[in-house]
Amino acid sequence: MSREIQILPNADRLAEVAAEMIVAAAAASVAARGRFTLVLSGGRTPEATYALLTSPEWIGQLPWDKTFLFFGDERFVPPDDSRSNFHMARQALLSRAPIAADHVLPIPTNLSTPAECAAEYARQLAKFFGPQSSAPPSFDLVLLGLGDDGHTASLFPGAAALAEQQAWVTSSPPGVLPPPVDRITLTFPVLNAARQIVFLVAGAGKGKAARAVLLDDPPVQKRPAAGVRPTQGTVTWLLDQAAAALMNAEQ
Ligand code: 6PG
Repeated sequence: MSREIQILPNADRLAEVAAEMIVAAAAASVAARGRFTLVLSGGRTPEATYALLTSPEWIGQLPWDKTFLFFGDERFVPPDDSRSNFHMARQALLSRAPIAADHVLPIPTNLSTPAECAAEYARQLAKFFGPQSSAPPSFDLVLLGLGDDGHTASLFPGAAALAEQQAWVTSSPPGVLPPPVDRITLTFPVLNAARQIVFLVAGAGKGKAARAVLLDDPPVQKRPAAGVRPTQGTVTWLLDQAAAALMNAEQ
């Protein structure tokens, strides 16, 4: 696994660098395969990047007609619920991006259980990438966040989902961090099949988890983000100064 850490002066510069990486990944993916498959991260941090990508100076830089958007995880709430990751992406990106509806594959949350939603999303991925019996899909770029507890996507410390090695998508009870709702999440086999992963980590609250994951090689059960080790792909950690503040501190 090739891993790079970039420490940016602030969250605005982090959003710019993330947008630059997304534009570069899109160009390379379209040149190589004629399309760009991008997994969006939830939470708050990526909002600034999504808004940048659909701002007047950036919106023409992405090949929207060849771009396909997916979600790394979702809260088990309706898409118009303010806790929904799709809701955030719609507000910050989808409502302004010239992208066709059938190029956006949100995680369904309208079935009766999170597990059924996970199975349905896996079916949709299999339809897009090919049968589930084959290797997990290789997304061109997966955006991920880092929870203060070291979770990523909805892979929470101590959760059964961390051990899932077959299913491409699974469900999970809430972690300790809000919102306390069930989740649906891509699993490690899919995350680790990605060509490129970029973590967006901003704010002092992430400092302890970022230092642990990046410097202490913690058990995945304790800090799930440490389980993101793409077999062929690259991982880039974008941290702002605040999130990187403990990187040079003594143990
Ligand atoms: C979610 C996210 C989650 C998020 C981290 C960081 O559904 O909440 O997928 O993994 O990326 O919790 O969230 P913030 O960016 O809001 O700090």
